[in-house]
Amino acid sequence: MIHAVLAFDDEQAAAGALAQALGAPLRLIGHHRFPDGELRLTLPTPLAGDVVLYRSLHQPNEKLVELLIAAPTARAQGAARLWLVAPYLAYMRQDIEFSPGEAVSQRHIGALLARTVDGLVTVDPHLHRIAALDEVMPGCRSVALSAAPAIGAFVAAQRQRPLLLGPDSESAQWVQAAARAVSPALDHAVCQKVRHGDHEVRVTLPAGQDLRGRDVVLVDDMASTGRTLVAAAQLALAAGAARVDVAVTHALFVGDALAQLQAAGIGAVWSTGCVPHASNAIDVTPLLAAALRDQVA
Ligand code: R5P
Repeated sequence: MIHAVLAFDDEQAAAGALAQALGAPLRLIGHHRFPDGELRLTLPTPLAGDVVLYRSLHQPNEKLVELLIAAPTARAQGAARLWLVAPYLAYMRQDIEFSPGEAVSQRHIGALLARTVDGLVTVDPHLHRIAALDEVMPGCRSVALSAAPAIGAFVAAQRQRPLLLGPDSESAQWVQAAARAVSPALDHAVCQKVRHGDHEVRVTLPAGQDLRGRDVVLVDDMASTGRTLVAAAQLALAAGAARVDVAVTHALFVGDALAQLQAAGIGAVWSTGCVPHASNAIDVTPLLAAALRDQVA
C-alpha cells in the first residue's frame, strides 16, 4: 500500500492521476524561492511507509536540487521507503566519455539518484550503450518501463497501414517494440544519423525502403531541438511519403522545435504524458501505477 504521492504543483495533474490510479492521497510539496534563488521546500507531515515522489526530470538541474532536499526530508517525516517516479529520466544520453575529460553524466546522475531514493520508476530511459538501468542506478530498485507498445497501438488506431520509421539506429529498440505491439506487426525501418552539433544532424534513409505513398510515422524516445525529426521528415517526404507524423515518448521540444517540425511538413505530433506538453495524447498513468503496485506489493 502506498501511503502518499508527493508532487510539486506544476505536475499536480499527472501526479494526481497517478495517485488516483493507486488509491493513494496526493500531497503537495510547498515550494518557495528566496530572492537569491535558493529554495525552501515544505513537505507534508507526517509520512509513513511507502511514499512516491513524482518528479519528471525535464529541465532537470533545479529539480535535482529539489530531490536532494525533498528526499531526506520525506524520510525525516516518517517515509520508510521512497519511490521516485521520474517518467523522464534526464542525463541518460551522455553515457560515454566522447572526448577526453568529458563527464559521463549518466553514471554520476544515476549514482546520485540511487543514493537519494530507494526505488525509481521511469519510462524509456535513453539506454543505448548500457544494457540495463541497474548498471546506472547501483543499489537502487529501478524499473524501466516502455511506452513503445502504447505508442504502437495508438498509431495503429490513427493511421491505416502506417510505416514506423526510426530516425537513427538508437531508436530501433523503440520502433520495433511499437511495431510489434499490434498484430500483424506494423511495417518499420530505421534511418542512420550523424550528429554534428546541437542543431545539426545528418540523416540517411534506410536503403531499399520504398516510402512512396506511405503514411510514415517517425517514432523516437525523445525530441529535443526537433532537428532529428525534421531531417528524417524532409527525406521521407522527398522520397514520396504521403504524409509524415511524429510519435515520441518524451516531448522535450525546446526552443523553436515545433515551428521547425511544422515548417518541415510534419502533420500530427503525438507524445506520451511523461513530459507535460500540448502534444500529449498517450497516457502512461496505467503503466506507472501497475509498476508501482508490483514493486510495493
Ligand atoms: C538521441 O539519439 C535521441 O534518441 C533523439 O533522437 C535525440 O535526442 C533528438 O534530439 P533532437 O530533437 O535535438 O534532434
